[in-house]
Amino acid sequence: MSKRKIVIEPDPILRKKSETLEKVDDELRGLLDDMLETMYSAPGIGLAAVQVGILKRLIVIDISKDKDKKNPLFLINPEIISKSKTSSIYEEGCLSLPGHYAEIERPAECHIKYIDYIGNKKEIKAKGLLSTCIQHEVDHLNGVLFIDHLSKLKKDMILKKLVKHKKDLNKIIL
Ligand code: NI
Repeated sequence: MSKRKIVIEPDPILRKKSETLEKVDDELRGLLDDMLETMYSAPGIGLAAVQVGILKRLIVIDISKDKDKKNPLFLINPEIISKSKTSSIYEEGCLSLPGHYAEIERPAECHIKYIDYIGNKKEIKAKGLLSTCIQHEVDHLNGVLFIDHLSKLKKDMILKKLVKHKKDLNKIIL
């Protein structure tokens, strides 16, 4: 397992749609392991492959709060089958938008199907934090970021700060 570099907004790759995977093999599992390590060390509770620069429909999630009881979830080609009419609000952040958080309203529950780490077809009915996390990550696979759910004003404010932050990162004084 090795840690990968996380792509930070603004980067055009984050706006691209990820591709469906054809097969689950050891190479793919190696990538999933790398994604999990990258997510744990960040630290974060969810990561999509595009965030390490790979446009494939892959997500890793672990919402367990206890560090000693890891409970990773690997989602290959996840598809949201249905969403509830009721909604919930969480203050969301994103590893690709460091330091920025905003309250985002999403359907409280979602029903998804996906392929697991072994290659088996699975389904989950998610609610609460897991539901929000899955929807945030599936958004990534479609080139959508959580700030896209905000008003234009709020979104532009965050984007401006991110551009400034990126410029500052490259600044050197000699
Ligand atoms: Ni994110």
